[in-house]
Amino acid sequence: MDVAAGEASAARTAVLLTGGGSVCPPREAHPAEPKDGGTNPTSRGEVGSCQVATKPLSDADEHRGREAEVSLLDESKFDVNLQLWSLRIPREHCTSVGRLLHGYMLDRARIKPIVEDPTSEKNRLVILSEKIQNSDLSEIPSHVLDPLKGLCNIEAVPYSLTLGYSYWGADHILKQILPHGMEVPTSFETVGHVAHLNLTEDQLPYKDVIAKVIYDKNQPIIQTVVNKIGTITNEFRVPTFEVLAGKSDMVTEVKQYGVTFKLDYSLVYWNSRLEHEHIRLVSLFQRGETICDMFAGIGPFSIPAARKGCHVYANDLNPDSVHYLRINANINKVEDRVFAYNMDARAFMHHVMTVPDSDGMQKTGEAVSNEDHYHKLATDEKEVFQGNRNTNKRIRGFHLTVFRPWEHVDHVIMNLPASALDFLGVFKGLIQREHWRGSLPWIHCYCFIRSTETKESILSKAESLLSTKIADPIFHRVRDVAPNKAMFCLSFKLPTETCCRDVNNVGAE
Ligand SMILES: C[S@@+](CC[C@H](N)C(=O)[O-])C[C@H]1O[C@@H](n2cnc3c(N)ncnc32)[C@H](O)[C@@H]1O
Repeated sequence: MDVAAGEASAARTAVLLTGGGSVCPPREAHPAEPKDGGTNPTSRGEVGSCQVATKPLSDADEHRGREAEVSLLDESKFDVNLQLWSLRIPREHCTSVGRLLHGYMLDRARIKPIVEDPTSEKNRLVILSEKIQNSDLSEIPSHVLDPLKGLCNIEAVPYSLTLGYSYWGADHILKQILPHGMEVPTSFETVGHVAHLNLTEDQLPYKDVIAKVIYDKNQPIIQTVVNKIGTITNEFRVPTFEVLAGKSDMVTEVKQYGVTFKLDYSLVYWNSRLEHEHIRLVSLFQRGETICDMFAGIGPFSIPAARKGCHVYANDLNPDSVHYLRINANINKVEDRVFAYNMDARAFMHHVMTVPDSDGMQKTGEAVSNEDHYHKLATDEKEVFQGNRNTNKRIRGFHLTVFRPWEHVDHVIMNLPASALDFLGVFKGLIQREHWRGSLPWIHCYCFIRSTETKESILSKAESLLSTKIADPIFHRVRDVAPNKAMFCLSFKLPTETCCRDVNNVGAE
């Protein structure tokens, strides 16, 4: 065996990152690192790190400083040079050598330990693990080395490997950049091509560099990195975002359980964490049922329900949500079963539940559905059934007998957890028994329960708003939204007593 001389070593490189024109010094050495700042050629390790200098800045300075900070992220400073050993072997023995050297080859994610030999096509180089430091391969025990020598000619040759910025994950890079102890924000909500960060106060001075690293490390999926600013105060429940990296266009597409949703994340409400709840609730619906979605957003309940064969009256106060709701009905080919409205939820319920006058017009409200569909159904149900070949094809095998909402609704969805309970009063006297067929609808009302509240207190509020008792309420815990706050779905059958009020006295809730 011809063993070349040399010593394996890893060269440590300090990361220099400048912010606002100042040079950031290497991070203070800690016990695991050499006190010399990592220049000792025999020291092992990866990269040094530094803190981005921060100081109070004017708005303009701050902006310029941040630009400089990002542009001056010197990617070469993340290079780690590994001086390793490799074994030159005849290429036909790759598999056997690989098996014999199990545990002694380089074990780094995304790096193949057996590579081509630049000097000869007939050979391969087997890169050895960093623990093999000596040219005589004395760290490999004889029970491994001897069979190897018996198998083929081997020659130890130095092997130099540089792991650069493109090799390291976001977590590794950000740990080098952010101060010790600061949480590294590598987990984020992904909405199509948008990465949504919720940076904490202490992370904010580093927001641009954090965004750049997240952007770089999630190509090509992530095209935009945004940070949520402040808390949501608007009634459309849309956060304010600051675009930190990438394009500012937030029109994107997401898929949930086979359904495609298009949306502008800067204009409409969307929460990917509700995916399971969307599936769970829709799984309770049956083909042919009629659904009213009072706070429909862009349709994560409505569109899958329609795909299941339900007829859905979907409403939202946000015109942009309704715009995308319609688009999504089209994309998912259920435009003939989703009737979209842009109203306040109370007005919407009155509108769809009001029995039309004899001339076919509603007594209240004004629909903005792309088709004033149920008027047509009311006057010519047969024509609609037979005239729409798509509908007939997709819902083949079952026959719908009822779907005018003032005659029958199976489920009402109320997903506005912050205030949906307050909308329950709309059901008082809403249903006119003389026109109604079948059982009363299930109400699925979302709410938050804080540590100061109980299911009993929520139920009692709901009962007081309905002015009647609720029989057999079901509370389903959806998710924890904060340490002391959980989102629940309260489901119950609308009590018969809600229909007993004189209909002439309602509408003022
Ligand atoms: C929590 S989001 C739920 C959206 C959708 N159902 C989902 O699960 O993603 C609540 C929606 O209610 C809408 N909204 C708020 N106030 C409303 C009102 N008074 N009437 C109708 N819609 C309203 C908002 O625009 C928002 O889209």
